[in-house]
Amino acid sequence: SVIATTAIRGRFLDIQNTVAQARDIHDQVRYVEDGIVIIHEGKIQWFGPWQEGQSRLPTNAELQHYPDQLIVPGFIDTHIHFPQTEMVGAYGEQLLEWLNTYTFPTEIQFQDASYSEKIAEFFVQELLKNGTTTALVFCTVHPESVDALFNAATMRNMRLIAGKVLMDRHAPEALTDTAETAYTDSKALIEKWHGQGRNLYAITPRFAPTSTPEQLQKAGQLKAEYPDVYVHTHLSENKNEIAWVKELFPERESYLDVYHHYGLTGSKSVFAHCVHLEDEEWDCMHQTDSAIAFCPTSNLFLGSGLFPLKKTWDKGVKVGLGTDIGAGTSFNQLQTLNEAYKVQQLQDEKLSAFEALYHATLGGAKALSLDDRLGNFNIGKEADFVVLNLNATALQQLRQSRAKNIEDAFFALTMLGDDRNIAATYVYGVAVYVKAAASE
Ligand code: GUN
Ligand code: ZN
Repeated sequence: SVIATTAIRGRFLDIQNTVAQARDIHDQVRYVEDGIVIIHEGKIQWFGPWQEGQSRLPTNAELQHYPDQLIVPGFIDTHIHFPQTEMVGAYGEQLLEWLNTYTFPTEIQFQDASYSEKIAEFFVQELLKNGTTTALVFCTVHPESVDALFNAATMRNMRLIAGKVLMDRHAPEALTDTAETAYTDSKALIEKWHGQGRNLYAITPRFAPTSTPEQLQKAGQLKAEYPDVYVHTHLSENKNEIAWVKELFPERESYLDVYHHYGLTGSKSVFAHCVHLEDEEWDCMHQTDSAIAFCPTSNLFLGSGLFPLKKTWDKGVKVGLGTDIGAGTSFNQLQTLNEAYKVQQLQDEKLSAFEALYHATLGGAKALSLDDRLGNFNIGKEADFVVLNLNATALQQLRQSRAKNIEDAFFALTMLGDDRNIAATYVYGVAVYVKAAASE
């Protein structure tokens, strides 16, 4: 017979509520040294201390105990490109040259459905291996790439947001659509996938330079017809890119104003990078409740610049963490937090361990307007989480044995950690990834 209820006992750490200021995170930290989460049909039915929870466990429930690990909510990646998985670590260029030299030739391969399926499968496995349970994902211009990704996600019950790239200029022929096919193809994909299981759709213009005004207008029309779907694009990443947008759209007040003009800002719009926003753009981000994906490994790898994370708090703009594979250099959110910390250091700012955890979980959920369903262990939320082994290497064991408290332990994990620390990943209550016992 089917086991309807499962439970996990262990050490839990999460952030209980979203906050308006970084300084408020500390009060929302919930650390349960011996806790239990009871899961029913993919959702959290009960969470709290083991002492209180054990009596609530149905007699036939399956209980998994992780006495030595740390369980946190599933990591949320608010910006990543699945077709760029194979080209991570491409040498020597900044954004615009990097796109022409490496990215576009790679993405052409995804016109082939079976190629798309092969890489989508690898990509989803890699997310899970790194503890990422939800991601906002760029596909390519080809609808086949979107089908491949959503099929791979559906097989594992993952909550993924993704969409077909819109691009009708300044790219190779094999990678372009038109204003009209961008609209009709995206519309068909929305009808097919949005709200199908846990899948959600994002209208995905690559960035302003590769869309004509006509195409952006069609994208805005589609968003108006389906206000519930996401908008996902790039914004203000690189100085040459920004200058190019100003040349291409001289009538618009700023880079963000291009998107805003076509109705592409809003509470379900996510803009990757935003390294060089002007004051008016920050105001527009706030006023429209748009979100930013902060992509530290990518911003450093492509030499794009230092993202001013503090401004997101000062200006009241939602922000999540993005790996931005393949300009980013790791699928892993611990490594991404490592570089985020150093980006802050270079600006004479701090990134506390708990703020880091917030951005990787509940804050990311908020950036994706999914904080009612994801991001912590609150009762009723979807049961996505990661079991972390803090002691995956000899150095980590030594450092963790000296940890002063859970904050210090988690901070050290973000500095030393990677996929070796991901012991298991749960999606909708099911262990979809379990690390093999013999490790490197
Ligand atoms: N801007 C437009 N396309 C891309 C892309 O594929 N990666 C990054 N990092 N920036 C972009
Ligand atoms: Zn990107």
